[in-house]
Amino acid sequence: MLFRRKKTIGKTQPPAPPGWPVFGNLFSLGAMPHRTVAGLATSYGPVVRLKLGSVNTVAILSAKAATELFKNHDLTFINRTVTETSKSYDYDKSSLALAPYGTYWRVLRKICTVEMLVAKRINESTAVRRRCVDNMLDWIEIEANAAKVGSGVHVAKFVFLASFNLLGNLLLSRDLANPDSKLGSEFFTAMLGLMEWGGHPNISDLYPWLKRFDLQGLRKKMDRDLGKAIEIANGWVKARVEKRLQEAADRGGDERRKDFLDVLLNYEATGADEPEKMSERDITIFILEIFLAGSETTSSTIEWALTELLRHPDKMVRAKDEIASILGSNQKLEENSIDNLPYLQAIIKETLRLHAPIPFLIPRKAFHDTNFMGYHIPKDTQLFVNAWAIGRDPECWEKPNSFEPERFLGSKVDYKGQHFSLLPFGAGRRMCVGVPLAQRVLHLVLGSLLREFDWELEKHVKAETLDMRDKMGIVVRKMEPLKAIPNKVFFK
Ligand code: HEM
Repeated sequence: MLFRRKKTIGKTQPPAPPGWPVFGNLFSLGAMPHRTVAGLATSYGPVVRLKLGSVNTVAILSAKAATELFKNHDLTFINRTVTETSKSYDYDKSSLALAPYGTYWRVLRKICTVEMLVAKRINESTAVRRRCVDNMLDWIEIEANAAKVGSGVHVAKFVFLASFNLLGNLLLSRDLANPDSKLGSEFFTAMLGLMEWGGHPNISDLYPWLKRFDLQGLRKKMDRDLGKAIEIANGWVKARVEKRLQEAADRGGDERRKDFLDVLLNYEATGADEPEKMSERDITIFILEIFLAGSETTSSTIEWALTELLRHPDKMVRAKDEIASILGSNQKLEENSIDNLPYLQAIIKETLRLHAPIPFLIPRKAFHDTNFMGYHIPKDTQLFVNAWAIGRDPECWEKPNSFEPERFLGSKVDYKGQHFSLLPFGAGRRMCVGVPLAQRVLHLVLGSLLREFDWELEKHVKAETLDMRDKMGIVVRKMEPLKAIPNKVFFK
């Protein structure tokens, strides 16, 4: 201990706001920590040190500091902080998002980027996505018809269901949102639990010596819901293994569209150090992880996009006109039209700039002591990259707090990890693997919502006073869910 202390003496650590003994800066963060921490840049600069309970944390708050991080220190911060709830059922040991840098992580990432989430495979499932989006539009219409005059529908709920169903089809070729599927709805409920408990701040993470008391009961709730989700997903994996054996015997397997589960079951090692096969357990956790990674992020982004458009009716009109201009009457929006919709693309970018669904990215951890921009950062320091703050960095963005999709028209800046001023999907080796899929789904869903309905706010809500507060969970979403009125467009 004495030795460790000595090592940091005389070395400059990043500036830090004053904190309390024992608690550090914990109670200063408030309900919207990404906003509070972003605000520290004015007094302390773009690299700030925080003490969260007993956890040393550094936050990156500007595009310049993020550039330095991803260009020169990506490897140092390649590992993740592993939370107490994510240790339930050893989830973290099979997780791609939490795996330490090494063979297992590389293998899973390669499967995602080379086999699952590539244009060819994504193209094969175009019709599935269209069907899931059509279902969503029908559900919205039914709900709107049943609602009282002047009251709206909870848009994000339907987008969440559609994303969940879509992932169910891509992963397992199953319609999980089918009301007749009892197992589907039990799985859905358990997954909602995982998102709730996983996104809750946990005292056990801030003071690891308290973890055995599980003071908030989060680990217990996680064990219950994760246990259920694993049991159900594992049943599906087992059923597929049997089905494949049967198909092999009948030689009929080639007829079926190969889904992500087939890819995982087909995996074979190509290098000496790689696992020979994926275990049933790893496959099960992978399935859960993709649901966690892809459903709420998508629904939150669409909810914010529609909220911003309702606050800016001129931009809503422009987006709808653009879509109408490239489609014939009665024609639905298809994915292959997205390239011809620059304004729609700009709206998605602008929404992700202002409302990054995972504002601190998935927190990372220093692999070893390092010098970052002249500051000493000790091994195991937790790192938050504040994508929310970076998206509003006044050095990169004019009128950073205004919703102006026009800024992206004719601009090359995008969210694919090359432009460090726009990081909703992160960057570097640990960047989101789901970008190619997310990109298709976000444009298809928002474009279809705009194509099929004319949207308005509920009668008692004014665009100027719309509640824009957000709240933190695994994903940051609108504190007050958006309720908006969809008026069906009838094409002549
Ligand atoms: C709007 C949609 C989405 C957003 C905003 C988003 C955002 C992110 C972010 C910020 C990270 C952490 C990146 C970093 O640390 O640098 C991440 C990681 C990840 N995302 Fe996404 N994501 C989205 C959709 C998806 C989808 C659809 C999938 C899968 C089909 C997915 C799978 C993953 C995985 C597996 C990781 C962990 C990668 C690793 O640790 O190596 N995401 N995502």
